[in-house]
Amino acid sequence: MNTISEVSQSTPQPASDKDRILIFDTTLRDGEQSPGASMTLEEKLQVADILDQMGVDIIEAGFPIASDGDFEAVQQIAGRVKRSVICGLSRASAKDIDRAAEALRPAERRRIHTFIATSPLHMKFKLNMTPEQVLQKVTDSVTRARNHTDDVEWSAEDGTRTEHDFLCRCVEAAIKAGAGTINIPDTVGYSVPEEYFALISMLRQRVPGADDVIFSTHCHDDLGMAVANSLAGIRAGARQIECTINGLGERAGNAALEEIVMAIRTRGDVLPFDTGIDTRMLVRASRMVSTVSAFPVQYNKAIVGKNAFAHESGIHQDGMLKNAETYEIMRPEDVGVSQTSLVMGKHSGRHAFREKLVALGYQLGENAFEDAFKRFKDLADRKKHVFDEDIEALVEDEVAAAGE
Ligand code: KIV
Ligand code: ZN
Repeated sequence: MNTISEVSQSTPQPASDKDRILIFDTTLRDGEQSPGASMTLEEKLQVADILDQMGVDIIEAGFPIASDGDFEAVQQIAGRVKRSVICGLSRASAKDIDRAAEALRPAERRRIHTFIATSPLHMKFKLNMTPEQVLQKVTDSVTRARNHTDDVEWSAEDGTRTEHDFLCRCVEAAIKAGAGTINIPDTVGYSVPEEYFALISMLRQRVPGADDVIFSTHCHDDLGMAVANSLAGIRAGARQIECTINGLGERAGNAALEEIVMAIRTRGDVLPFDTGIDTRMLVRASRMVSTVSAFPVQYNKAIVGKNAFAHESGIHQDGMLKNAETYEIMRPEDVGVSQTSLVMGKHSGRHAFREKLVALGYQLGENAFEDAFKRFKDLADRKKHVFDEDIEALVEDEVAAAGE
């Protein structure tokens, strides 16, 4: 069985008494499955490189049986990434598993991730299989994957809508067959945090052998709770989180890596965990994934949105100029943003306007300042974005008028 220290062995970690959470990034697999988000091979290699550099523990590089392009991407990523474990997805069939193993062959550290649906709905309508047949597939698929590598992850697709006794039997079968990681997907984003917490706790208590494996979360965002559910999962004892950059993924997406990592970093008081992620690379990774997937990041997206560290209201700008902690719970440089931005607009106050003038190299007397401030407010009422050049033009007019 693989333990957390084995999986993360090459990630240098600062000394910490907090539990280590493995970050399993699936931007290149579940993220890329998002309609319209497909990436070229070159783009996938760039994303894999940045994920590796930022300290992602496991990179799910693709679904090798899905297409020749996916196979090649997994193979090439496996051949070039040296630090992260490289993972390939497969259904519970011998053909899928063997294809994943072949694509992963060049990897220094490889994982096969095999899954099958376990909910009544999926077994009946999608797989057309009985629970006993599914159970047999769990054993057969994990056993086959273990013939290729010691590092096997098993997932119960639609796990959160699976009947508990049956889920326990499937997890037990996967552990017995040699899976080292047990992933419990909330495939359709149906769960709420209390329920997901209870599910992971129940499995850890009831399934024989549960102490020898790593439980993993894989939460989708259909109800906007993917990150909250993932965090509930680690509080219940899961030690791996599956997530994607910008929350890219099927339908409403997956849990967003940047939100999970910064929640853990910022709220260590209630989430006493560590990840191996260099958070200063989060914004760079977000921009890269947004560019290659052609999925824009919404302005107010937590952590990496354009406005995540921007303030326009006069009260907030005044507070920020006095002490940044008044309105910011994270330092912008910790996520790779050079500085807070005080956006000049109709809500801005005198304090911010004065600071802006100083930054632009102007020192106005009190009367000229008041005139300039009034003209700035008039302009901001008419114009959505007031740029530095607008303010410069306005002050130059003021200075010229004073000289007449
Ligand atoms: O959402 C899901 O269930 C998945 C599995 C294949 C892990 O992506
Ligand atoms: Zn998924």
